[in-house]
Amino acid sequence: TMSSPKASEYGSQASPLRQPATPNEITKVTILGAAGGIGQPLALLLMLHSEYVQHLALYDLVHVRGIAADLSHVDRQCKVTAHLGPDELTEAVRDAKVIVIPAGLAQKPGMSRDDLFGSNAKIMYNLAKVCAQVNPSAHLAIISNPVNSLVPLTCEVYQRILGAGSRKEKSADSNSALSQPAAPPASPGAAAPAGSSAQKSAGKQQQQQQCFHDCCRRIFGVTTLDVVRASTLSAKSAFFKPEPNGLFKDPAKIAIPVVGGHAGKTIIPLLSQSTMKVDKKRLIEEKATTLTLIESIQQAGIEVLNAKKGAGSATLAMAYSACRFTISLLRAQQGEPNIIECAYVRHQQPLVSDLEYFAAPLVLSKDGYVKTQGFSLNKLLPYEQQMIEEGAKELRMSVAKGEDFAKEQL
Ligand code: NAD
Ligand code: LMR
Repeated sequence: TMSSPKASEYGSQASPLRQPATPNEITKVTILGAAGGIGQPLALLLMLHSEYVQHLALYDLVHVRGIAADLSHVDRQCKVTAHLGPDELTEAVRDAKVIVIPAGLAQKPGMSRDDLFGSNAKIMYNLAKVCAQVNPSAHLAIISNPVNSLVPLTCEVYQRILGAGSRKEKSADSNSALSQPAAPPASPGAAAPAGSSAQKSAGKQQQQQQCFHDCCRRIFGVTTLDVVRASTLSAKSAFFKPEPNGLFKDPAKIAIPVVGGHAGKTIIPLLSQSTMKVDKKRLIEEKATTLTLIESIQQAGIEVLNAKKGAGSATLAMAYSACRFTISLLRAQQGEPNIIECAYVRHQQPLVSDLEYFAAPLVLSKDGYVKTQGFSLNKLLPYEQQMIEEGAKELRMSVAKGEDFAKEQL
């Protein structure tokens, strides 16, 4: 049966004012693009979680030394280091447990996220290469747009650099110096006689597939802002009664899985799966209200973009969301069970037709995500299924765009 995650299962409920515990090991988090509109408030929020983060490494092409000097006076037991320009990138990412990436251009009014591909694909490609070479076991949280293309691009880069071969050119080389074969593959197909070259090649292919999946389990497209927006805008909607004091319901108590991707119609909030009971009959019967709410969640980025009149896109709610996602990754890395967050990732077994990349609620662990949680296509309302079908068409193109870019460079 479909078990929706409980509100408390989504993200960090840790109080930012909690006193730091002195851990045995220092946990390092790196921000690539730390001087930007998202990077700066994200750095501040992460410092407030010094019980989880004891070293914050700030990397950018500009301004990071001043930002680090400023932050270093916050009275938390967390050291801050500045890393300026490509020569200092290796040091920035070395030994980090999580690398958060908001590097690159943001939208201006009238642009789509996809319009950013030309500039941000190149930036992401160069950053991903260094991350894969220097610190392949870190968890990557990719914020830069277009997320729908940059995650597949990054997975391709990791696949090549870590020697997982190419899935599409079946017997591609895996002779990288960094080759780290992953867990032994399941027994190869029974059709080929033992020890035959056909069997060996099938075994190798399976091993490459497994290795590829092990890389991709650590590469996350951050869609937490969509989840946060879904909770907040729903809490303020007609579907939930206000509190007696007139305030809207506490959004933290309304977790709504958001699946698909992070752009327009690929942002698919599953209202029927809300943790605070929504009357499913109302969702169907009051379709106009439902669709208005869904659209407001999908268009929330544009609302901010227009309201800021050219001064940038969402940065504060995004920093909040990225902080929540990063802390969830760290908690899962430390062995805390049942940490569930939605994110855009590659799936070994596609959830929706042949689509390998899809955002869904994921159970996190120290080695990346383990499995999806409570996502089952046939339990959804018909219009939710239809939105997924529509979104899948766009996602397919975005994925191909990212993969093709990486292949052209490699
Ligand atoms: P910004 O322009 O304020 O900051 C971007 C920072 O990246 C700048 O400091 C810039 O110097 C830096 N940068 C550029 N090239 C770099 C490189 N090669 N290496 C390191 N740093 C580099 O933009 P922002 O508002 O912080 O947004 C950052 C990205 O996040 C954008 O692509 C935006 O579209 C995206 N975004 C995603 C979401 C989401 O939900 N996933 C939400 C909001 C914004
Ligand atoms: C958002 O959802 O607010 C961002 O993705 C907008 C952007 O492209 O900067």
